[in-house]
Amino acid sequence: MSRIEEVQNAALQTIAKAKDLAELQAARVQYLGKKGSIQALMAEMRNLPKEEKPAFGQMVNACKQAVSEAIESRQAELQKEALEKGMESEKIDITLPGTQTTLGTTHPLLMIQQELEDLFLGMGYKVAEGPEVEQDYYNFELANIPKDHPARDMQDTFYIDPNTLLRTHTTAMQMRELEKAHGELPIKLICPGKVYRRDDDDATHSHQFMQCEGLVVGEHVTLADLKGTLEFMANRMFGEGRKIRFRPSYFPFTEPSVEVDVSCPFCDGKGCSVCKGSGWIEILGAGMVHPHVLEMNGFDPEKCSGFAFGVGLERVAMLKYGIDDIRNFYTNDQRFLKNFDRFD
Ligand code: DAH
Repeated sequence: MSRIEEVQNAALQTIAKAKDLAELQAARVQYLGKKGSIQALMAEMRNLPKEEKPAFGQMVNACKQAVSEAIESRQAELQKEALEKGMESEKIDITLPGTQTTLGTTHPLLMIQQELEDLFLGMGYKVAEGPEVEQDYYNFELANIPKDHPARDMQDTFYIDPNTLLRTHTTAMQMRELEKAHGELPIKLICPGKVYRRDDDDATHSHQFMQCEGLVVGEHVTLADLKGTLEFMANRMFGEGRKIRFRPSYFPFTEPSVEVDVSCPFCDGKGCSVCKGSGWIEILGAGMVHPHVLEMNGFDPEKCSGFAFGVGLERVAMLKYGIDDIRNFYTNDQRFLKNFDRFD
């Protein structure tokens, strides 16, 4: 009987001292396992006189019960400790300031491009694209500017080789589209894109900028159609009530050619510092597609006619948003770009 007590006391002590679940499991094996001390006590029962067996059996069972319960409660304790330790070490300090992620904004030039695309798609135009590295043929020859033509001086060009260049105007895309149409009418498209010129950068010049070309070819297309279209565009881009006016000009690929002014949106045409007192602001070049250009591209100028225009997107954005330096569009200054956050 005293052996039972000894085993029980030793077991309870070992259990109480178990520092973690692994040690507790070892104690369980040591005392309650098949080859454990309590099982060994049970085996000893065989050697006892018959009358002592029941009392001995009861005591061993009580011992087993006590040890099991001690293990259970120590296990609960250790599990709780482990959980608390885990919570402590994995604690998140929600008072720490987080890392702020800033969302990008739509670039003002892209905003203008999208506005123009929406506006013209709504009138049944398609949006065409073309390469920025262009052949002299599309940029100049098909646009009625042969080699050695003085009009080439109007656009100082980055040449890659004598026949390859960075396109100087979106008119190159106009020529590609005319050629691609194989004389089929009607044509109604715009082509926005980047263009390049060997200019020294300053507040109003950039060696790379954006244009959007417009082109309509069909039967009986007139200068009046051009005027109506551009007036509609001016009203949508610069607000209702805008007027436009044509001034005679020269482009090799149009005849007649015009420069187009819009009535100043800042003073409503009365004259202010932006329009330099004139009440008008020049916004684009346009004209009727030159008969020779139609011919070179496989159209019969007796049977069809077309209008075209080319508008500078920086110029439109500068006017619309009151930006006074074109370099702002390209220096990626967050303080500038942030102003165009549509979700702010
Ligand atoms: N390509 C001209 C330029 O870059 C702009 C232009 C003028 C385009 C008249 C046209 C046009 O399509 O008809 O200065």
